[in-house]
Amino acid sequence: MASIGLVCFTVLICSFPSAAVSDFISVDCHEATVGQLDRPSVLTCVITWEEGITDVVVRRVKWQKKGEDVPLLHYGEPMISRPGYSFAVNPWTNRTMNVSLLISRTTVADDGDYTCDVASDSGVSQGRTALRVTAKYSQPTVESIHQGATLKALHCVSVGGYPAGELRWFDAERYDWTGSATTEMTKMDNGLFNLSSTLALSEKSTFPKYICAVFNSSRRKEAEVIWEKVEELPDHDRSTMIQSSKVVAPLVVIGSLIVGLLALLVYRRRIHQIRRPSTTPLMGPRNVPTEDPDVEEGVPEEEEEEEKDNKGEGRMV
Ligand SMILES: *[C@@H]1O[C@H](CO)[C@@H](O)[C@H](O)[C@H]1NC(C)=O
Ligand SMILES: *[C@@H]1O[C@H](CO)[C@@H](O)[C@H](O)[C@H]1NC(C)=O
Repeated sequence: MASIGLVCFTVLICSFPSAAVSDFISVDCHEATVGQLDRPSVLTCVITWEEGITDVVVRRVKWQKKGEDVPLLHYGEPMISRPGYSFAVNPWTNRTMNVSLLISRTTVADDGDYTCDVASDSGVSQGRTALRVTAKYSQPTVESIHQGATLKALHCVSVGGYPAGELRWFDAERYDWTGSATTEMTKMDNGLFNLSSTLALSEKSTFPKYICAVFNSSRRKEAEVIWEKVEELPDHDRSTMIQSSKVVAPLVVIGSLIVGLLALLVYRRRIHQIRRPSTTPLMGPRNVPTEDPDVEEGVPEEEEEEEKDNKGEGRMV
């Protein structure tokens, strides 16, 4: 009995001095923050202090990620600010009680637990917080796998998500077929996950419609794609498609030929105008076809018509 009392007494004595130093201030942080990949994230921590303290001056702030030796941000000696990490309040001074950390571009590597140590003239304290990084999976895509003319399987892919997610298969009645599928998850170098799933189909029991859905790590559906069995295109449809693409090419060629010819005509006329003396009298309109190729070598009627059309231009040249 006596020894227990002694232990209690010792604990009380020993814990008092440290409590007295650290408890004047406290670093209060959000328990966890959800950060989106490639977006800024703020880990929120503020210094609070006990009643009776009027002015807190910060001597040192150290933001560190659990498992890393080098701080992300260190105010004091030495000053450290790793690229992409800074105080969220800008400008920050040693009297700014909001010591939140800004991560300017969140990556998968930022996911984890953090500590924020503060030393001030009114004591020291440590805050803890966490960042949970998320990245949305891409819209899934489905392609069918045939063996000869027989549909053998459906293959669904969704990429670039975080944390680990899941692909699931349903039919039109929302019956879950995921049990019949083989699913793979691969982690890319940037930490993001790619999901792929193959649903084997047997000829007798193939539905006309399947849904492949991607679920995030909280088992919430992010996106889905509907695959529907399409009847083969009738032959005449296909040939129309091919024909129409065959028609387009010659049209383009003919079109450019016409444009080229017109440009040539205009160019030649300009040359005639330059050669012709600018004093040529104006004459009445005549019905000369403008597109007549024989005009090239200086048929007078054509020139006069041209003169009438561009009165000023001819003289200016
Ligand atoms: C601290 O500053 C950050 C960034 O400006 C802000 O988002 C946050 O709300 C502030 N927190 C408090 C408690 O003032
Ligand atoms: C999962 O998706 C839901 C709904 O879109 C979203 O609210 C939640 O934050 C997501 N969770 C993760 C870990 O991505």
